[in-house]
Amino acid sequence: MNLLILESTCDETAAAVVNDEFQVLGAAVASQDELHRQFQGVVPEIAARAHVERILPIIDLTLSRAGITLQQIDAVAVANTPGLAGSLVVGLVAAKTLCLTLGVPLIAINHVHAHLYACQLEAAKPVFPAVGLVVSGGHTTLFDCQSSAEFNVLGGTIDDAAGEAFDKVASMLGLPYPGGPVISRLARSGNRRAHSFPRSFAKEPRRLQFSFSGLKTAVRYALVGPGKPDFSQVKLSEQQLADLAASFEEAVVECLVAKARHALAHTGHRRLCVGGGVAANTRLRELLHEAAVADDFELHIAPPTLCTDNAIMGAIAIERWRAGKLESLDLDIVPGLMR
Ligand code: KG4
Ligand code: ZN
Repeated sequence: MNLLILESTCDETAAAVVNDEFQVLGAAVASQDELHRQFQGVVPEIAARAHVERILPIIDLTLSRAGITLQQIDAVAVANTPGLAGSLVVGLVAAKTLCLTLGVPLIAINHVHAHLYACQLEAAKPVFPAVGLVVSGGHTTLFDCQSSAEFNVLGGTIDDAAGEAFDKVASMLGLPYPGGPVISRLARSGNRRAHSFPRSFAKEPRRLQFSFSGLKTAVRYALVGPGKPDFSQVKLSEQQLADLAASFEEAVVECLVAKARHALAHTGHRRLCVGGGVAANTRLRELLHEAAVADDFELHIAPPTLCTDNAIMGAIAIERWRAGKLESLDLDIVPGLMR
């Protein structure tokens, strides 16, 4: 059984062919970073239009990498939730069209669940049940994952997502989009204790929520002080920039690790799965490993290549296919996160 998987929830157009043994036969990702860089964040309309231009070439490239033709596809899976409405529609329409013309079934993917399933693809044994932490540009959410088919939201951010905070702080510091990788690189030569930035809710074990807006404001005040809106003229030395990046990164990462520990204590799970673009962050991975040793839990972090958006993690659809969970061609997009 060959499954064609499509991913177009945000600003990556991606496809993969995975068989029912979970072997990846071919995959491709077209990033839109360069289109959104001048706006320092994703512009939904630009993202949707770029998906329209790229989805067919990406499918062709994926099939040629897999060495198969469309006629050898047995089912099509697509991420239809959550994401940007215009972006989701492009993937869903492409998937439905293929299902209709090829006469093959359609399978729905929850993109956020797929980020966690990336942990399973790397592991030699089942990773669920577990606490799941998704840290991406659009989501920062804790799940109680009973199985690969049952993900219940425990809590999430009340304002920005962790990746969004990286991107917005990078913008304040005059650094390019996406901000996560560049802040992480600068942070390596910075002092993590140079600024004492807030760690919202980190000392409230019963509160399974995140907030990064106060942290963003604190970085802004460190740049210009309160009441002064214009930070575009601020000139920082290399060391000042590195110290800000390191102190900011440490604050985000400490909050994520603290809340993951709280969620483990709250649910009684002894296993943690972490996925999403921010899970590629080296410092986060380091502190999670330290926490796993200190608290004696089993840690699964998505492999770095499967942290940012890709279609391979959509192999969670194989589980749905095995369970007979197929969709009609009436399937719609659901832009918001389902609880
Ligand atoms: O999962 P993803 O590709 O897209 C969403 O589903 O949102 O995540 C993209 C986010 C961006 O905000 C980017 O800045 C962040 O992941 N990111 C990182 C790193 N690599 C990507 N954040 C921190 N450290 C990184 N190394
Ligand atoms: Zn994502």
